Amino acid sequence: MWNGSSVRDNVPSQVNYPKGLLAGQVAIITGSGQGIGAECARLFANEGARIVISNIDPVRGQQVADKINASGGMAVSVPGDLLKDENITNLVKAAAEFGHGKIHIIVNNAGFTWDAVIHKMTNKQWDTIVALHSTVPFKLIREAAPYFRVKDGEPRNIINISSTSGLHGNPGQLNYAMAKAGMAGLTKTIAKEWGPQFAVRANTIAFGHIETRLTASKAAGAFVEVDGEKIALGIPERQMQTVGDPSAFLDIPLRRPGSATEAAGAILAIASPLSSYITGQTISVTGGMNM
Ligand SMILES: NC(=O)c1ccc[n+]([C@@H]2O[C@H](COP(=O)([O-])OP(=O)(O)OC[C@H]3O[C@@H](n4cnc5c(N)ncnc54)[C@H](O)[C@@H]3O)[C@@H](O)[C@H]2O)c1
Repeated sequence: MWNGSSVRDNVPSQVNYPKGLLAGQVAIITGSGQGIGAECARLFANEGARIVISNIDPVRGQQVADKINASGGMAVSVPGDLLKDENITNLVKAAAEFGHGKIHIIVNNAGFTWDAVIHKMTNKQWDTIVALHSTVPFKLIREAAPYFRVKDGEPRNIINISSTSGLHGNPGQLNYAMAKAGMAGLTKTIAKEWGPQFAVRANTIAFGHIETRLTASKAAGAFVEVDGEKIALGIPERQMQTVGDPSAFLDIPLRRPGSATEAAGAILAIASPLSSYITGQTISVTGGMNM
């Protein structure tokens, strides 16, 4: 029998209700151990989302989760190489458990570049980069389908990270350009399949030059390992440009690269309810490059 108290009266006063643009939503962000993904995790957590950190490097992933949890947010690290199918299955299972049966957002962000000119590109280079940037997002979305094909009145969002290389091509990046170009078709198909019945929004964000280890000098020594082979990341020193040098960044109207925080801000903007009528789009975040 009702005793006159409301549901709210029965809730302990120390419970913190999440506030913010993504309050109460559960977000998987792949490649969130560093760079754009880590910033995205931080900004999403600030807006009340519960974050599932997915990263190949367990140490970095845990560090990002720990920082979020220490500053009052909610995050869990689910490490694993996404090129291995079992890690995709495990990621979705862990996210659904963390989210008490709900997943609202996927940001397909994990990736790296493995460049070569066309006539020197190996099958391994091609297969790895196409798998990581196109096939992994597909498999993750397919695995998470039961959590997106729902009608509970809560928002659902998929954001696929692309690149100006995918929109315009880039010498030395045939594999990456092909894989990133595929994001637009993937995104639009999700928007058309899952929009009408389930109100799922899907968008692509194509970055230009964002300052992370992918665009730092190769001399900094960052690398990833593929089957024991070390792949150097970054751009050759001779191609590096300096902010403030009048001859640098002439292809960018804002005359500078973007920061990881600025890139993540664009992802948050698209994930948020302020973008509730935006779906199926490719949004360029480039400082105006390639207009
Ligand atoms: N930095 C740029 O200028 C730029 C431009 C356009 C697009 N992008 C895209 O943005 C995304 C993020 O890149 P970033 O610049 O932040 O690079 P980053 O190297 O700082 O971060 C990429 C993250 O992906 C993770 N990752 C890589 N391979 C993985 C795998 N197999 N399984 C799980 N995690 C894996 C890495 O561990 C890392 O944490 C990438 O998809 C990249 O292609 C970046």
